[in-house]
Amino acid sequence: MTAGSFIVVEGLEGSGKSTCISTISTVLKSNGVEDIVFTREPGGTSLAEKLRSILLDPGEKITPEAELLMMYASRVQLVNTVIRPALDRGSFVVGDRHDLSSVAYQGGGRSMDIQMIKNIRRSVLGDFRPDLTVLLDIDPLVGLSRVDSRGAGRDRFEQEKKDFFQRVRDTYLNEAALDSTIKVIDASRSLEDVTLNIKHAVEEFLCSRG
Ligand SMILES: Nc1ncnc2c1ncn2[C@@H]1O[C@H](COP(=O)(O)OP(=O)(O)OP(=O)(O)O)[C@@H](O)[C@H]1O
Ligand SMILES: [Mg+2]
Repeated sequence: MTAGSFIVVEGLEGSGKSTCISTISTVLKSNGVEDIVFTREPGGTSLAEKLRSILLDPGEKITPEAELLMMYASRVQLVNTVIRPALDRGSFVVGDRHDLSSVAYQGGGRSMDIQMIKNIRRSVLGDFRPDLTVLLDIDPLVGLSRVDSRGAGRDRFEQEKKDFFQRVRDTYLNEAALDSTIKVIDASRSLEDVTLNIKHAVEEFLCSRG
């Protein structure tokens, strides 16, 4: 393998993103990919981790516009200092969330103008895009019940109401219908089924890139 690829995992809280990333890692390794960089958003750099702690703090009152721009500040720093250099070296990058989260959460959840968000993306990231996005689709209440069963408390986003997450879910699915690089996986199924479907999606992607 010569060139790197950027694979992103997206989905609501508790949809199984972290679990999916470990499945993707296993599939990549069993297909001969050794060099994998893992990222998360918001976060993944010194600056972006500081922004993350503010963005997730339930005690912080943040306007939707400020939230959106902090997400992009975090993302641009991560893309320019970590993701692009890793891809240029030929590494694979596996991201826990990326740009689609802003479209879904700030666009869908916060009801901000999705075209405006896409314009910001184009202005600051140009045509940089993931090669494959695995979207874990789940009923928000099922996801949140999984989060609650971990017993770690809810962050600023996790404290939103069901309507918010329903809009996020709908926007994720609308975007997936427009973009063939987004593969939707039914994350309400058993862990075994979800794992198998992720494996198929990643192997199909590896075959298609040759
Ligand atoms: N298909 C599944 N069926 C049942 N439980 C699952 C499934 N996938 C993951 N889980 C469990 O649900 C919980 C949430 O999964 P995970 O942490 O992977 O989600 P996440 O999307 O990363 O959550 P967060 O948004 O909080 O980071 C974990 O306890 C995990 O073991
Ligand atoms: Mg996680």
